[in-house]
Amino acid sequence: MRLAKHLAAAGVASRRACEAIVRDGRVSVGGQLVTDPARDVGPGDAVQVDGRPITARGERVVYALNKPAGVVSTARDPQGRPTVVSMVPQTERLYPVGRLDIDTNGLILLTNQGELAHRLTHPRFEVEKTYRAVVGGPSVRDAELRALREGVELEDGRTAPARVQRISADTIEITIHEGRKRQVKRMCEAVGHPVKRLERVAFGPLQLGDLPRGRWRRLTDTEVDELMSWVASRRE
Ligand code: URA
Repeated sequence: MRLAKHLAAAGVASRRACEAIVRDGRVSVGGQLVTDPARDVGPGDAVQVDGRPITARGERVVYALNKPAGVVSTARDPQGRPTVVSMVPQTERLYPVGRLDIDTNGLILLTNQGELAHRLTHPRFEVEKTYRAVVGGPSVRDAELRALREGVELEDGRTAPARVQRISADTIEITIHEGRKRQVKRMCEAVGHPVKRLERVAFGPLQLGDLPRGRWRRLTDTEVDELMSWVASRRE
């Protein structure tokens, strides 16, 4: 397909305007600047406009981002702080899947699939999230691990049973399926261990793995298919 037509089909602008965008030197194909709007491109070509990848209209986009501290997980921030959406290539509207506190690091998903985002975050679907918490106070004791597993009393009610593992004297891994505000921090505080550092290492079937902090990767089509089937199999 001709490059200008490809850009127009992806919703960049009208065909005419796309021809001008190409002639203006704003488009690259496979990393090479291209100024010929008639240049032939195929589905496997990485096309960028102003350094941003474009996606075909209707394409499913899911990014896994390792959010650094200091970045907010809303789409926009009235205070002008950096957002998770600003850290990934933006070709269209992206929804952050759930929230992490500004000082929490780790795995957050962003997608253009509203229904997927809804199913991954609605409490009814009980999607598990795993956090690694470095905590203050004395060494974490078995009784505290047990209390976290069984549920602790918070001001908004008792927490559901959780999976909890001690990684070292001051580090625990905790898996919850609720998504209350500051839940892990409040749970740890309730057993006498204020959280010093918090990182999300897994979300549903997806792991943070070795994705470096501040970096993102786009899930492959197969991974998106698997995620959608996994989500569809959750009971309502
Ligand atoms: N629990 C918290 O306390 N903070 C987060 O960011 C996520 C879970």
